Amino acid sequence: MAQPQFSVLSEEFAADPYRHFARLRERTPVHHEPAIDSYFLSRHRDVRRVLTDHEAFSTETLQARAEPVMRGPVLAQMTGAEHTAKRKIVIRAFTGQALADQIRAVHANAAELMAPFLPRGRMDLVNDLGKPLAVRVTLDVLGLERAHWRQVALWHAGVAEFITALTLTPERRRHCLDCAERLEAHLLPVIRHRRGHPGDDLISRLCTAEFDGVAMSDRDVTALIINVLAAATEPADKTLALLFKHLIDHPEQLAQVRRDPGLLPAAIAETLRFTPPVQLVPRRAERAAVFAGTTVPAGATVFCMIGAANRDPEAFTDPDAFDIHRPDLGTARSFSAAAEHLAFGAGLHQCVGAAFARAEMETVAALLLPLLDGVRHAPGSRYRESGLYTRGPVSLPLLFTPVPQPTP
Ligand code: HEM
Repeated sequence: MAQPQFSVLSEEFAADPYRHFARLRERTPVHHEPAIDSYFLSRHRDVRRVLTDHEAFSTETLQARAEPVMRGPVLAQMTGAEHTAKRKIVIRAFTGQALADQIRAVHANAAELMAPFLPRGRMDLVNDLGKPLAVRVTLDVLGLERAHWRQVALWHAGVAEFITALTLTPERRRHCLDCAERLEAHLLPVIRHRRGHPGDDLISRLCTAEFDGVAMSDRDVTALIINVLAAATEPADKTLALLFKHLIDHPEQLAQVRRDPGLLPAAIAETLRFTPPVQLVPRRAERAAVFAGTTVPAGATVFCMIGAANRDPEAFTDPDAFDIHRPDLGTARSFSAAAEHLAFGAGLHQCVGAAFARAEMETVAALLLPLLDGVRHAPGSRYRESGLYTRGPVSLPLLFTPVPQPTP
């Protein structure tokens, strides 16, 4: 009897992609998905090749996938001098003194959000803390009013759905575009005001920066704001929840991190390798390319499977084990261009927020660990992840010893 055709769009794959990665890498490292006429690459060396050969594999796919909701061209679509110049502006808002200021804001946001849950001894790390924190921190960096975070979070969800859905019904597409239009309408008056009254925030920097002697248009600034909003928010709550899930599931490693918080960067790096929140990175093959004996035709959409590449035994020993001490990861390299894991991508478009993401995770985890005494999964909760493009826990209800409220 013929085997049913394996599909990355199947419910079975969506329920647990990790179960299928070894078979993909070994049997069909170039998997063609007819319903969306795209190729999925799962081997570490093939994924790295696509991400670093910018001539052969372009980011043209983003014109259809991101531009309609970003309201203009995003950083990852740009090339050459324009890319270098605009990337630098964004990086400056997330490094050096700016980073130190942001981390203070991360700490304050996290402390405020977790406070009501500490005396209860119960917190959903995704919905009570991670998601609101990710949006509020990004709003602070951008220089947007924190008071609007719930509304912005809803618009952001529509934008993120558009970028990350592999298939979208016309109704959902309309909803996502509507969210993007409302977000743009919210941003435009802010941009116009910042042009006349710039501050230290990223929006002000974008408004006052010049490229080739010309200031960026409102459309260009809007696109970069939405770009950063989506890029910084989407993976943050997922990484935080996955870090705690893996540590709780490996109590001996949790105990080590508690004893020595200096191990946190290694635990974050291993979390990113083991379960990268950005699972797929798309590219367009500019010319025909051969991988493991299979030809990908010119013009084809290629998806780099980051989760599968990060579990490739050719790159990592015992790749399906979560081990914060693994020597083949190299914590110091893990947040830089020399990273062996591919959670931040690789090459010219590698994540500009890696240093910020590390500092954000370290700050929140260092705050949480001593508070969450006896931390464990809440009984009766069923662990479930969702998402093919970006992926993370739907919720992570935790129990811990209640922390008495400080007396006023
Ligand atoms: C754990 C957290 C994060 C993960 C796993 C992550 C992952 C990634 C990946 C895989 C890419 C490459 C996309 C590609 O090659 O097409 C990327 C690019 C990017 N990321 Fe992140 N990211 C994270 C946090 C952040 C943060 C906090 C920011 C805030 C600035 C950010 C901003 C960006 C931007 C602007 C790009 C596009 C860079 C370019 O094209 O030059 N990311 N990120």
